[in-house]
Amino acid sequence: MGARYEVRGDVAIVTLDNPPVNGLGLETRQGVAAGVEQAWADAAVKAIVITGAGKAFSGGADIREFGSPKSLAEPNLLSLIKLMESSPKPVVAALHTVCMGGGLELALGCHYRVASPGTNIALPEVKIGLIPGAGGTQRLPRVLGVETALNMIVGGDPVKSEVLAGLPGQLLIDRMIDGDLLDGACAFAREVADIRPLKRVRDLPCQHPNADAYFQFARNTAKAVARNFPAPAKCVDAVEAAVKRKFDDAMVVEREIFLALMLTPECKALRHAFFGERAASKIPDVPEDTPVRPIARVAVIGAGTMGGGISMNFLNAGVPVTILETQQEALDRGVATIRKNYEAQVKKGKLKDDKYQQRMALLSTTLSYADIAQADLVIEAVFEEIGVKEAVFKQLDAVMKPGAILASNTSTLDVNRIASFTQRPQDVVGMHFFSPANVMKLLEVVRGEKTAKDVLATVMGVAKKIRKTAVVSGVCDGFIGNRMIEQYSRQAGFLLEEGCTPAQVDRAIEKFGFAMGPFRMGDLAGNDIGWAIRKRRYVEKPDLRYSKTADLLCEMGRFGQKTGAGWYDYAPGKRDAMPSDVVVKMVEEHRNTLGIKPRKISDEEIVQRLVYSLVNEAAKILEEGIASKASDIDMVYLTGYGFPLWRGGPMCYADQQGLFNVAQSMKRFAQNPHDDASFWQPAPLLARLVAEGKSFT
Ligand code: NAI
Repeated sequence: MGARYEVRGDVAIVTLDNPPVNGLGLETRQGVAAGVEQAWADAAVKAIVITGAGKAFSGGADIREFGSPKSLAEPNLLSLIKLMESSPKPVVAALHTVCMGGGLELALGCHYRVASPGTNIALPEVKIGLIPGAGGTQRLPRVLGVETALNMIVGGDPVKSEVLAGLPGQLLIDRMIDGDLLDGACAFAREVADIRPLKRVRDLPCQHPNADAYFQFARNTAKAVARNFPAPAKCVDAVEAAVKRKFDDAMVVEREIFLALMLTPECKALRHAFFGERAASKIPDVPEDTPVRPIARVAVIGAGTMGGGISMNFLNAGVPVTILETQQEALDRGVATIRKNYEAQVKKGKLKDDKYQQRMALLSTTLSYADIAQADLVIEAVFEEIGVKEAVFKQLDAVMKPGAILASNTSTLDVNRIASFTQRPQDVVGMHFFSPANVMKLLEVVRGEKTAKDVLATVMGVAKKIRKTAVVSGVCDGFIGNRMIEQYSRQAGFLLEEGCTPAQVDRAIEKFGFAMGPFRMGDLAGNDIGWAIRKRRYVEKPDLRYSKTADLLCEMGRFGQKTGAGWYDYAPGKRDAMPSDVVVKMVEEHRNTLGIKPRKISDEEIVQRLVYSLVNEAAKILEEGIASKASDIDMVYLTGYGFPLWRGGPMCYADQQGLFNVAQSMKRFAQNPHDDASFWQPAPLLARLVAEGKSFT
């Protein structure tokens, strides 16, 4: 129904009621408007209080109707705010919990605002590539001052009500209410019921003593910080208009900027990522109300690189963890690494010492399976060898309590096979973390053939609790992310054979926006890891062509940063990649043995060949059902592989380029005698979408 109406004596209360966060959807807007008009018509009512039911005043626009005609239908948000502002009876907004975006803009249209402590107040539109579009850039500076308001608008982060209420001279919050919010709001409304004229935020002055210099400085800063995103600098423009123009003229400026930003590729990419993140947690055949298993205690098998990082995630979330190893020394080493990581955070002031102690107190270690039998979730992170995994999972099957979830962090092995080592394959699932596991956002949840739906639902919930972006992947070699990166790496190798240097390839793709090019990445992760995988993989697929340069590099012992030499040279103790003459010579010699005459390859070609390698493999992954939607693939690349956020991920990027153009480029590459024609055979799904004039998303 959208909003509720009630009268308490001489005060009317209009309550936004649109769970979960009282998004300002059409029904809610209609409900609020109806409530306000009803209050006007009631002679006994002297003032109106507006508040929100449940867990928010309002979280802003209703994202379910985002971009649809409904979002613009009257009364739209601007009309609703106008209605508040023109009310002949005072309107008091009673804020609590969450007051963001359109919710804050609505509150700024009211004559007064009271708030509970702890209310999160923000204009977060910049985070999806926009500026506030219903007067936020015009009214917030009038109540908080230009600089405070602009900082909030450019940053988009929430600030607590008590902090804002404590700012000298602020007019945003008229009273903080410690006890019952509605009682306090009604009492306040009665106090102000007869005060006239009614003050409107739009009528307040908006000034800055040094406007020109200040806005120039703010604009430069916003541009420098947000290099690839246009919205932050546009926030500055909109607030500058608030200072320099009449209110109604400046509102037009705000609207024009808002509409122009809406059409930019960066805004589309950010919105795509915003919705992609939410969509990733929804699994098509697992209903949202699937009951989940309680997870109060976690066990981790293996205290190595991954086991330690995985454990930290749970300790950070307040969940007790027991790590199991075969040797006491391995446990000691693992715990020492965890300590070292936390101590570094304490040193940097990112973690309080008592928090650190609390987290460590949740950690225990053992050499005996009996000690972990009661864990609700166990995550295996032992050596990547099927025999070792088999021994571990047989043990787990023997000791773990019924209903415990048995997860493997394997990056390349068959999760179905791992599940088959147990008598309870329905309880087995892949939880593929990325290194460093305590930092990287991505978690691939690998769904085995027999994985139970409630196990999946539980693991998705666990992921949320430990603040990961979880994406479900079916079982295949490499899952979503690494299966795609394999093609990207193969293509990077072909580029070397044809005339590029590692540095040239890295530079081109880093300019495109990747955090790190393929060769710097290899040096960081360790080139020996890929070497080991290739030895296994390419024995199984002897016809698959790839450049042998990476093998030659490893034969020289150049494993990367850890050996002080890889695709690049490294000074002792340093991580700066310095181009290596030895490697360039090795590549040249290899090129000669292949009889390839080097040619100059443009940055554009490098980027297209690398990114479209990802896209073509992704199309196969989609068609096979390994990923259930294109946006899941984008989330994997945005959160786990350093794909530039402002391009929205490989699928979003391909769509923006136009799949017809993508396919045309691929046809051109297929004709290159030194590339691999079969490599560029368009995936059937891609060919079909091109033929139908459609896109991935
Ligand atoms: P690691 O070699 O650093 O750690 C493995 C640990 O397991 C060692 O401490 C070892 O003592 C212990 N271990 C071996 N056999 C055991 C057993 N039977 N019982 C108990 N503990 C045992 O290896 P890392 O890098 O942590 O990898 C672990 C798993 O995570 C592998 O499956 C790997 O494929 C996967 N993975 C690794 C990533 C990485 O970047 N290193 C990324 C994602 C997954």
